[in-house]
Amino acid sequence: MSLLFTPFKIGSLELKNRFIRSATTSYWSDKRGIIRPEIFELYSRLAKGGVGLIIKGHLFVKESGKAHVGMAGLSNDYHIPELRKLTDEIHKNEGKIAAQLNHGGMLSLGDRVGPSEYLVGTHKTRALSSEEIHEIVESFGEAAERAMTAGFDCVQIHGAHGYLISQFLSRLTNRRTDEWGGNLKNRMHLLLEIYDTIRRRVCKKFPIMLKINCDDFSPNGFTIDDSVRVAETICRRGLQTIEVSGGGIGGQEPLRQRARSLDQKLSEASFAGHAIRIRKATKPTSLALVHGIRSLECMEALVNKDLADFISMSRPFIREPDFVKKLKAGQKASTCTSCNKCISRDVFGKMMLRCNLD
Ligand SMILES: Cc1cc2nc3c(=O)[nH]c(=O)nc-3n(C[C@H](O)[C@H](O)[C@H](O)COP(=O)(O)O)c2cc1C
Repeated sequence: MSLLFTPFKIGSLELKNRFIRSATTSYWSDKRGIIRPEIFELYSRLAKGGVGLIIKGHLFVKESGKAHVGMAGLSNDYHIPELRKLTDEIHKNEGKIAAQLNHGGMLSLGDRVGPSEYLVGTHKTRALSSEEIHEIVESFGEAAERAMTAGFDCVQIHGAHGYLISQFLSRLTNRRTDEWGGNLKNRMHLLLEIYDTIRRRVCKKFPIMLKINCDDFSPNGFTIDDSVRVAETICRRGLQTIEVSGGGIGGQEPLRQRARSLDQKLSEASFAGHAIRIRKATKPTSLALVHGIRSLECMEALVNKDLADFISMSRPFIREPDFVKKLKAGQKASTCTSCNKCISRDVFGKMMLRCNLD
């Protein structure tokens, strides 16, 4: 039998197969960040469709760190009851669900803060004080505790895609000269503080995952060499699973080529070339790879070559929530064309997440 349909563990959490629905915001929560009923239906279909783990779209840990209209939150106890209903729904359908914790930093809607002053479009962002950084660290810990109370099976720290943690990791956006910036050891300080704080606040067995960029694809940003060192450091500390992604502030499309693998079978997996290096540095920690993976052939190659334990996908599940069932039944690839009509700027807060391919 294909390895893809065999169980695997994230720490003590057993998943029925190797498929993960990568975090995908539905941009459909109310103004306070409380999820709306339509979202249950979407998640229910995913669980019934057989995916091993669903990572809920990112949740803000602080109101001021909300990254877009319709984003859900876990910054207050009033977020818990509806999320509890969601996790109950997933468990009723034999699924597992993770809470992805995030702070928008410079990409927040309101208070645009980051490691240093930086120009995002026409907005100049403000540098966080050390006291504010400590508050944010605590808010990740509190949100993780709420995630446990709300019935999530694990949490994922969002350390990718140009949000606050990745802003601290990148030398492009982090120009601080104190203990939170400068060399890579200082630039990863925020991430490690957040990890340690969550670890202290949740029960011992509760798994913690991290989504990290293998590269920001910016000429002066976070590189694969940096990523390997950060990944190795946090995995040695006991992280359960690392999800490898890429892209962020200052990213340039042509530079993305440097993350690809030369192996034909892996060519659709956008970051497979870089992921090999992260895999070598982090084994035996389990690894999920995301971005561009669409065909069964590529998925098989990734697990058979031991490059990844989990196949993580977002857009294919927007189009076909039961994609895993379909693969098991013989479908060879996703029908998602990566057209990105599901994530265009005009849909945020205006319509519920859906595939808009004609
Ligand atoms: C509509 C949409 C919403 C997304 N929301 C999130 C999110 O909340 N957190 C996150 O880490 N990534 C988010 N992503 C990125 C995906 O998790 C994933 O990394 C990316 O889409 C590449 O995977 P794919 O090629 O399988 O779609 C989102 C992507 C889409 C299309």
